Amino acid sequence: EDLSLPKADKIKLDEADPAKIKLGNGSDVKGTRVRVFGRVHRERRQKDVMFITLRDGYGFMQVIFTGPLAKCYDALTLTRETSMEITGELREVPSGAHAPLGRELHADYFKIHAGWKAAGGDDAITNRVSKDTEHATLLDLRHLTLRGETASKVMLVRDAVEHAFNLVFKELRMRKVSPPALVQTQVEGGATLFKFQYYNEEAYLTQSSQLYLETCLPSMGDVYCIEKSFRAEKSLTRRHLAEYTHIEGELDFITFDDLLTHLEQLMCRVLEVTMSDPVVKQYILDLNPEFKMPERPFKRMKYSDAIDWLVEHDIPNEDGEKHKFGDDIAEAAERRMTDIINRPIFLTHFPTEIKAFYMQKDKEDPRVTESVDCLMPGVGEIIGGSMRMYDYEELMAAFQREGIDPAAYYWYTDQRKYGSSPHGGYGLGLERFLAWLCKQHTVRDCCLYPRYFGRCKP
Ligand code: 4AD
Repeated sequence: EDLSLPKADKIKLDEADPAKIKLGNGSDVKGTRVRVFGRVHRERRQKDVMFITLRDGYGFMQVIFTGPLAKCYDALTLTRETSMEITGELREVPSGAHAPLGRELHADYFKIHAGWKAAGGDDAITNRVSKDTEHATLLDLRHLTLRGETASKVMLVRDAVEHAFNLVFKELRMRKVSPPALVQTQVEGGATLFKFQYYNEEAYLTQSSQLYLETCLPSMGDVYCIEKSFRAEKSLTRRHLAEYTHIEGELDFITFDDLLTHLEQLMCRVLEVTMSDPVVKQYILDLNPEFKMPERPFKRMKYSDAIDWLVEHDIPNEDGEKHKFGDDIAEAAERRMTDIINRPIFLTHFPTEIKAFYMQKDKEDPRVTESVDCLMPGVGEIIGGSMRMYDYEELMAAFQREGIDPAAYYWYTDQRKYGSSPHGGYGLGLERFLAWLCKQHTVRDCCLYPRYFGRCKP
């Protein structure tokens, strides 16, 4: 096999062991010998010269093989995705030529360790994942499509956004907690509960950590969590998952207006922090070239005005009729409205009947609640929030209205007994936020391994 690989002792080494660098580095060390590790992202030949683009998750590097190195057995049979160790000298790319970070590695030695070589021929990754592969197949092959530029950029932006949320929550003096995923209470309606046998009892996968966050306020102040929520959604839409990452916050002693101002600040600051990393900013602009920071203040629109707007714009409800007060604004109508208005909207004051049991009624108009959905162009709702009912009797009446037995909620209703307070909070779907930020058609492409109706693999 080892036809004419140059032997290590034949290679003139300037240093015994050149420094190992990641592929996102090296623009500052031109002229030095380095050692890199990565996988073959692309390769091409031009006469006797071989160009390899190496990838390691931190960046890309153009590597050049010339002379015997380009003609040895391993180079001639090199397959995409093969893992390599390469040493060489980093040089500026010739003027007029382009390469990542404006530098290229002139290799003088490479090695494919035993077992590092990727399958070629019919099994090659390129034969399994191509542009024409159907979306369902791509999702079956998610472990391989994750290696692609688009999927990996979305995942890297996701990492940065989650980090930014943690950072901004700390700036806002909010404390992180980790509520349980296995619960015996519902938050957002029985229809989407995943039920399971918990030893001898019935239990559910949590729909939202909200109720638990509320119990933390008295001793921890404002709190947040970044946890999974689960919804047994039975429809296939581009923004519904069965398992999603829910970023939830709960704030004590606030007014509804404070809640809206906080949400605006949180979102804008998270975007600022995320965009302050030049690499991440470039990923976002690659994925979403038209991205612009949202303007503050966000548009505020009452539900009842949205109903009027939909009627004026001839956008019908789900039954094909004119929208009327009390209708749920369905996904399609909501998205059309948001796309036409084309800026972030705080849609507020939804009627009591179409919202969750725990929402505080508006003192001025008891038909509606102090509730808010934040709508973003291209996606629609990415945040749902509200002030919480803080009166014990009122909450008990709400349970009755919804036909929920309050017994299992004793720990929640106790909050209204032992020092209640005006408070409110929200939940943001991380995948929806990313679909908006990275201009992805569906939230499925914004999670590592999406779970939705009919899919629980890989
Ligand atoms: O509007 P939702 O149902 O609100 C709550 O769960 C509140 N208890 C949160 C709170 O106040 N702490 O969900 C909040 C957000 C939605 O705006 C959406 O972004 C996301 O969670 N979401 C989903 N994302 C993906 N797939 C689903 N099936 C989702 N359901 C909700």
